[in-house]
This record gives sequence, structure tokens and C-alpha cells, in this order.
Amino acid sequence: AVTSVKRALSGAVAPGTEVTVRGWVRTRRDSKAGLSFVNVSDGSCFDPIQVVAPATLPNYAGEVQRLTSGCAVIATGTLAPSQGKGQAFEIQATRIEVAGFVDDPETYPIQPKAHSLEFLREVAHLRPRTNLFGAVARVRHTLAAAVHRFFHERGFLWINTPIITTSDAEGAGQMFRVSTLDLLNLPRDAKGGIDFGKDFFGKETFLTVSGQLNVEAYCLSLSNVYTFGPTFRAENSNTPRHLAEFWMIEPEIAFADLDADARLAEDFLKYLFRAALEERPDDMAFFAERVLPDAIERLEKFIASPFERIDYGDAVQILKKSGRKFEFPVEWGVDLQTEHERYLTEQHVGRPVVVMNYPERIKAFYMRLNDDGRTVAAMDVLAPGIGEIIGGSQREERLDMLDARMRQFGLDAAHYQWYRDLRRYGTVPHAGFGLGFERLVCYVCGLSNIRDAIPYPRAPGHAEF
Ligand code: 4AD
Ligand code: MG
Repeated sequence: AVTSVKRALSGAVAPGTEVTVRGWVRTRRDSKAGLSFVNVSDGSCFDPIQVVAPATLPNYAGEVQRLTSGCAVIATGTLAPSQGKGQAFEIQATRIEVAGFVDDPETYPIQPKAHSLEFLREVAHLRPRTNLFGAVARVRHTLAAAVHRFFHERGFLWINTPIITTSDAEGAGQMFRVSTLDLLNLPRDAKGGIDFGKDFFGKETFLTVSGQLNVEAYCLSLSNVYTFGPTFRAENSNTPRHLAEFWMIEPEIAFADLDADARLAEDFLKYLFRAALEERPDDMAFFAERVLPDAIERLEKFIASPFERIDYGDAVQILKKSGRKFEFPVEWGVDLQTEHERYLTEQHVGRPVVVMNYPERIKAFYMRLNDDGRTVAAMDVLAPGIGEIIGGSQREERLDMLDARMRQFGLDAAHYQWYRDLRRYGTVPHAGFGLGFERLVCYVCGLSNIRDAIPYPRAPGHAEF
């Protein structure tokens, strides 16, 4: 019967059973004894399975000996305990069918050797054939499944928010404009500008930067909800931490304040890290061996550490007194940079930190103004080795305060009427946060560049594949 490599290697299939595996060749080695060893991987687990091909196979000389890295094969044989070290089982082949040869083995980009990450980004369609990107894909899947499981277990509903939108959820003007294909043929107004009254949607539309505003409406009806979907930011930040297209998880909780929000964030991250360690031990072991030596320990330490909470004002004092020379000097009122965040979480406390109550001027319009009138109930969760991983806040539930904030930020209330309605019809304190899914994948896998945490990265100047 056809089985996955994972199942064949797991011990769940009795030795002596005939099995068929289907996958792609990693390596082929011919022995002097007239045998070939073909390692086949199908993505189901980290390890490939060794298929032992005897010279007596009818296509041995014609095909088996032409197998190179990347060829697709269907191998049938007897599952047997393996003599080879590092694996419990192998397949003693009685038949190897070549489903697809590699046309030009010399130029096939994925050779069985170490490739640079930069090079692999240029062959994003083939990099899932490598150990690293196979492992990242499996861990990414496991984390996504754990996200849904975590919320499902707690009674949260997954709400699908729109990708095409008219409102700037962050009020930061970093939106990609959506244009209809025949935009050039649309009527022009007197000044020669496009008459958006005639556009597909009848108004200007953008790709969403966050599902938060939409999900708030569902929160104020269904209590505990979350979004998990793609978001887009047209920020020109060519950094290893920013993508133009990334996936974000945004829970929103009703009758809740910033304290409840921070507790949810802590439970959530720890749950996800536990899932990766428990469900993907082989992939995690690989990351620790090849990517980041303490990949596993740092997650274990994270899970065991209660988060430290630091008020923004105190954080600024800590940074100023640190004696460190930061590239960006710190003063009350500035936004914290990654270097500051990492100092706080790595040097100052040595565990995850939640910085709370940021100056109102540097945070989004929807955050709740504190009684001091100069800070908002915002939080950033900082993780050792990376800095900000989660950003969240208690929302401004008072209509007059929200209107004042929107005026202050120069936002047109007409664009946010429906959002204002939520404050007019049964408003309650509520809070939420956003976790960048690729930041999470980077952290769990020990990756240093976010472009390796998503199959097809989108960044300034990069939209291939
Ligand atoms: O801090 P941000 O901008 O917050 C929001 O979008 C809120 N609406 C969240 C909420 O309260 N519901 O983004 C949240 C998180 C960041 O902490 C970071 O993990 C990630 O999203 N993020 C990015 N990840 C990759 N590339 C980018 N350009 C990102 N911008 C933000
Ligand atoms: Mg943020």
C-alpha cells in the first residue's frame, strides 16, 4: 500500500510488509556490491527514507542509475530494519518507477550541499526541496493549526475580515491601492484625475493593513473573536523583520482591559511554542543543529518564564540609565527601536517583557487614552532575540474621545462612520492584539530573516513567483 515516508519510518508498519512511497530523490549512492541507495523524501517528516535498489531491477541500468537529486520516483518494496546508521527502516525495492526525471542535472539548483539563504530566495519555487525549507513549512503549518486550536479551545470564533477595504485601520497611510484593470480607460475628472465614482467599487480601495476594525464589530456582538489572514503594508522598510505581505493573527476580547489582553498574549505565545516543540521534534532538532544552537532552549525558557511588565515611562528610564550608547537616543515620547527592545528583554530582565502605556502621540488613533491624558493603553510584547513580536491595546470605547483622537490624527470621520457606530450602540471596554505570523515562525525556527519564514516573500523590489 502507498504510505508516507513518515509512516514507513515510524515503526507503525510491520517489517516485511510491502509498501510504496512516492517522493523526490535527495541523493543516490551506488555501492560496489551492485546496489544503489536512493534517499527519497516526500515532505511528511524531516528524514528521507533509504530505498535499496538491487541491480536485478529491470530498469536498474537504464533508469535507477540515472537518478539524480530532484527526480520524482514511486518506489515499492519490503520494509526492513535498516543496517544504515541514523534510521530504523529502509525499503528493499522490488520496483522503482521514475515519474519525472530532472531534465538537466548539472543546472538543477538544489544540489545535495549547503546553499546560501540568499541564493535559495532566488529559487523560492524549489527551496521547499531543501531540509531547511521543508522544516520551516512543516513548523509553519503546525503553528497555524495550533493558532486555531488555541482559540477554538477557548471559545473564540474565527472571523474572516475583508482584504479589499476602504479604511486605513492603522491610520498610518501605508496602504497599497487596489486598481481595477481598465483604470486607464476610466473617465477623468476636470483636473485629469481618475473619477473614482466610476471605478469598480465606486470609491478608492486598498489592501488591508489589519483586520482589527472589522473584527471589533464582531467582538461587540460575539464577545471573543479573532482574525487570521493576509495583511499588506506599503512601508519602505527593507529589513529582515518586515514584509510587504504578511499574515496576522488578531484576537479581540470584549469586557476586557489591557491586563486581560497581556495575559491572553502570554498564554497564546506559550501555547504555540509548546505545540512546535511537541509536534515537530525532528524539525526543531534540525534548527538547533544547523540554524541556531539554542533554538530549543530559548523556547523552553520562554515557556517557563512569567512575562515581566514594564511601564513605558520606566522603560525609558531604564534605557537612559543603562549606560548603553544606542544608535537612536531615548527620550520620553520616542518610539522604541529594536535595539532598545532587545536591551530591555535580553539584558535588563532576561525574559519576555510587556511594555505598557505608550505616549499617545506615537500610537494609533483607536487606542484608549489613559487618565493621565498623555499615554494610551497600548502594549508591545518583546521577546529575547527579536524584540517586538506582538502589538496590542485596549480600544477607545468612548465616542467623544475617539472623535477627538481621529481629529488629532487628521482622519476623516466620514470614513469611519460604521466604526463610530460601535461606540454609539452598546459600547463596552474591549482589547486585542496582533501577532505577525512570520515573526512567530522566525522566532520558533531561529531564522534571522523574515523572508525565509513565508513561502513567497514580498518586499520592496521583490514580487517574483
Ligand atoms: O503593531 P501592529 O502594526 O498592530 C496592528 O496592526 C494592530 N491592528 C494589531 C491589533 O491590535 N489587532 O502589527 C502587529 C504585529 C507586529 O507586532 C508584528 O508582529 C507584525 O504585526 N508586523 C509585521 N510583520 C511583518 N512585516 C511587517 N511589515 C509587519 N508589521 C507588523
Ligand atoms: Mg507595532
